[in-house]
Amino acid sequence: MRMFDIIRKKRDGEELSTEEIRFFVQNYALGEIPDYQASALLMAIYLKGMTPRETADLTFAVRDSGVRLDFSAIDGVRVDKHSTGGVGDKTSLIVAPLVATLGVKVAKMSGRGLGHTGGTIDKLESIPGFKTSLDTKEFVRIVNEVGVSIVGQSQELAPADKKLYALRDVTATVDSLPLIVSSIMGKKLAADDDCIVLDVKTGSGAFAKTLGDSKKLASAMVDIGKRAGKKMLALITDMDRPLGNAIGNSLEVIEAIETLNGNGPKDLTMLCLELASNMLALAGQGTREQCRTACEKALSDGSALRTFAKMVKAHGGDESVIYDTSKFAKAKFEFELKAPKSGYISAVDTEGYGRASLLLGAGRNAKEDEIDYSAGIILKKKTGDFVNEGDVIAVLYSSKETSFVEAESVSWRSTMILDSKPKKRPIIFARID
Ligand code: URA
Repeated sequence: MRMFDIIRKKRDGEELSTEEIRFFVQNYALGEIPDYQASALLMAIYLKGMTPRETADLTFAVRDSGVRLDFSAIDGVRVDKHSTGGVGDKTSLIVAPLVATLGVKVAKMSGRGLGHTGGTIDKLESIPGFKTSLDTKEFVRIVNEVGVSIVGQSQELAPADKKLYALRDVTATVDSLPLIVSSIMGKKLAADDDCIVLDVKTGSGAFAKTLGDSKKLASAMVDIGKRAGKKMLALITDMDRPLGNAIGNSLEVIEAIETLNGNGPKDLTMLCLELASNMLALAGQGTREQCRTACEKALSDGSALRTFAKMVKAHGGDESVIYDTSKFAKAKFEFELKAPKSGYISAVDTEGYGRASLLLGAGRNAKEDEIDYSAGIILKKKTGDFVNEGDVIAVLYSSKETSFVEAESVSWRSTMILDSKPKKRPIIFARID
């Protein structure tokens, strides 16, 4: 088999065989196929697409490129939740301990920031002392004792995805349905969960910008998960505005803590309740309504927050910051973004806000960049709000004063103020099972 023939076949819009797909994934993971040939094939896939059978083969090849985890030592049903990536999306920090509080185990592997989107692992590392790298024995022990543990992906899990993702990031081939499906589901299927709830984002801050594309993405992932024997469900949720008010690592952890305390922003709280009740219902804990009532109680009586604090302690983190968020390190500088005229915030380019937060230091421009955990943005006004000239729309935070110039200009380019009130968008668009 030759890589040249596989590239030519896909370039001409033909269907690749299972053997050809596995040949490519396995040999690329082993370093036997050069990046220039892999890039050419990725671009051909991006332009010509893949059939559902090819997408499933690509996903299973990514899954099989490394170790398959065994969570059989974890007692009880295991459920996972995965978001396709967004801005201000701190739901895992809330939903995972919430579900664990109600008796279903969450053994979660999460990623770091990707492009304009944030990552759960970076957020957790903003908690002083929190270790995101544990061996499997320790991870399983914490899941059994606390109910939840969140760690970074081990090096051996789906190594083909690590290489392919890095290549996609620099070859403009990220936003391709078969490539996103195989990347996300290849990793999810290499882990050992019984049920998976997918949070598929749609809108200006998502990788799939239109509702049609997000639905296709969700259906493809649900289908592949079911073929692999998992209980699957996807919610299509709004990412046309940042989720909640905080963007940036410790700022988002603080907002997650407020939400776990029952005092979170409405959109974030509602999405978390919906995700958590769907996860619990999928895991057989009752109807969605019963599960939702239980979730509301666990947020209002502080039990979900206590589970989060226990997880932080078990990971070596400083639990006291959870109960006193003023202990989180503060950014040295802040800058207020003030409305230049009166009107409604009619739309925001959410990806632009994600990029602005990155420019402030909350994400990486290069793989080896250090993160400024206190950097980011607090939104004071969101899409649909009326602002008077001079009102503060957002506060930008950074430890590097020079970063404000570009971040401010990106934020402005991402904010539209008009005379008419925009149409309200739902938080949840569809449920696909
Ligand atoms: N998250 C992933 O892990 N992979 C993608 O391709 C997109 C989002």
